[in-house]
Amino acid sequence: MQHPRSDTPASTDIGLPLCQRLQKYRQYHFIPSTPLASGKLTRMVGLTLEAEGLNLPVGAQCTVELHNGRDIDAEVVGFHNRKTFLMPIQKIEGIQPGAKVSMKQARHSLCLGEHLKGRVINGVGKALDGLGPISGESEAEFVANEINPLHREPISEILDVGIRAINGLLTVGKGQRIGLFAGSGVGKSVLLGMMTRFTTADVVVVGLIGERGREVKEFIDHTLGREGLKKSVVVAAPADDAPLMRLRASQLCTRIAEYFRDRGANVLLLMDSLTRFAQAQREIALAIGEPPATKGYPPSVFAKIPELVERAGNGDGGGGSITAFYTVLTEGDDLQDPIADASRAILDGHIVLSRKLAEEGLYPAIDIEASISRVMPNIVSAEHLGLAQSFKQLLARYRENKDLIAIGAYTKGSDPLTDLAVDLIPKLRAYIAQGITQGSVFTACKKELETLLQATQVADTAPVGTAKAAAAAATPATSNPTQAPRRASKVKRGLA
Ligand SMILES: Nc1ncnc2c1ncn2[C@@H]1O[C@H](COP(=O)(O)OP(=O)(O)OP(=O)(O)O)[C@@H](O)[C@H]1O
Ligand SMILES: [Mg+2]
Repeated sequence: MQHPRSDTPASTDIGLPLCQRLQKYRQYHFIPSTPLASGKLTRMVGLTLEAEGLNLPVGAQCTVELHNGRDIDAEVVGFHNRKTFLMPIQKIEGIQPGAKVSMKQARHSLCLGEHLKGRVINGVGKALDGLGPISGESEAEFVANEINPLHREPISEILDVGIRAINGLLTVGKGQRIGLFAGSGVGKSVLLGMMTRFTTADVVVVGLIGERGREVKEFIDHTLGREGLKKSVVVAAPADDAPLMRLRASQLCTRIAEYFRDRGANVLLLMDSLTRFAQAQREIALAIGEPPATKGYPPSVFAKIPELVERAGNGDGGGGSITAFYTVLTEGDDLQDPIADASRAILDGHIVLSRKLAEEGLYPAIDIEASISRVMPNIVSAEHLGLAQSFKQLLARYRENKDLIAIGAYTKGSDPLTDLAVDLIPKLRAYIAQGITQGSVFTACKKELETLLQATQVADTAPVGTAKAAAAAATPATSNPTQAPRRASKVKRGLA
C-alpha cells in the first residue's frame, strides 16, 4: 500500500465525519490480486526456480535476468504461500541468487498460419531450420477452445496412410487416434516417415519429442525428405531440451494440428513419442513436489495424457479432422508399462510393432494379431472387414502350429485351415512387408487383399473373405481378452 503524502494536514481532519475523512484516501488502494510483475530468485533446486515477490498465475511467461546480460525464459508452474515456482524453458547456466524475475506475457501465445508448412520449429515456435523467423498471420492462444464431445463429427471416412498393412488390415478413419506401441529400434520412426510421404492427408504435423538430437536431422533429411517436408510442420524438442520445452513441443504440435483442422484440412498428427511427453511431465511434477504414484509417475501425468490426446479427433462441423498416431515406448517390450496401459485405454486403436518380426527382417514389423483399429468395422465394407479378419485368422492358425510345423510333427490334411495357412504364409508376410520408399494407395491395398484371399476356401467355415467368415473370425487371438466381445459386436454392426 502506498501511504498518503506526509504533507497531508492530518489536523484538518479532526472533527470531520469518518466517510469524509476516508474520501481523501480514495486515490490510494491495495492491489493484492493484480499480478506483481517482478520479483527475485531465492532458491534453485534441480530444475525448479523459486521466486519471491511475484504474484502471477500458473502459465505466465517470465524472464530471469542474469548478471552476464543474458536472459532465461521461464514459466510459472506452481506456487506455495508467497513462493512462486518457475521452470526454465532453456538450459540454466549462470543463474545466480537474487536474479530479477519479471513477467513477459500473462499467457503463452503464438503465430499460426500457412507459413508454418515446410518449417522446423522448437517447442516455443522459434525456427530451428535457419530459414528466418516465424511471423504469422494471426496471433493465437496456446490453448484452443475445447470442443463439446457431442458436437464432434463421428468417424466415418477412411484416411489413406500409404501403408499396405494398415490400410488393408487395420484401416484408419479420419479423426481416429492410434497408439504405435514398440520397443526401441523396431521401426517406429521409419513407419511414421513413410506415412508422412505417402498419406493423402492435406497437412502432416510431426512432433519429435525427447528423441536423440542426431535423429531429428536424420528424420528431416532422410526419412521425411524434401517431398515429405513440403506439406509438413515439424516441431522438434530433443532429449537434451528442458522438460518444459519438451512438454510445450507436444502441446504446440497439437495446437498447430488444431489450427489446420479448424480451417477444414484433414491433418495427420504424428507424435514420436507420447512416452517422452509423459516423462517430461513427470520431471516437472516431481520437481515441484508432487508425490510419485505408479512407477515413479505422479498422478498429474495420467491426467495430462488424455488432456493432450482428446484434443485430436474430428472438429465440430468445420469439415476438418486430426488423425493422430502417438508412439508409445514399451520398455523391454513390456506392454503393461503404466504409460502404455493408460494410452491404450484412451486411444481408438493400437498398432503393435514386434521385435521378433523386425529380427526376422519383416518390415514394417506390425504384429497384425495384437493390433486393432477400433473404428475399422464402422468405416469399411463388410467384404473388406471379412477379408481382414480372415487374414488374421490364418496368421493366428499358423502361429498356433508353427512349432509343430517347424519340427515336422504336423501332418498335412489334419486341419484344412492350417493347411491353407501353411500354403499362404509367404504371401501373407509379403502383403505386410513394405520397403521404405514404396507407397501403397488404399484401393490397391484392398484389391491385393481380395486377390490374395477371395478365391480361397476354408473347410468347416465359410469361404475366407465372406461376411460369415468375418463373424467367425471376430474373436481371434488378441492381446487383450476384454476386447474380444466388444470386437464381435462391432463386427456384427459392420456387417448389418
Ligand atoms: N520398412 C523398412 N524397411 C527396411 N528397414 C526398415 C524399415 N523400417 C525400419 N527399418 C530398419 O529398422 C531400423 C530402426 O528403425 P527406426 O529408427 O524407425 O526405429 P525406432 O523404433 O524409431 O527406434 P528408436 O526407438 O531408437 O527411436 C532402421 O534403421 C532400418 O534399418
Ligand atoms: Mg525413433
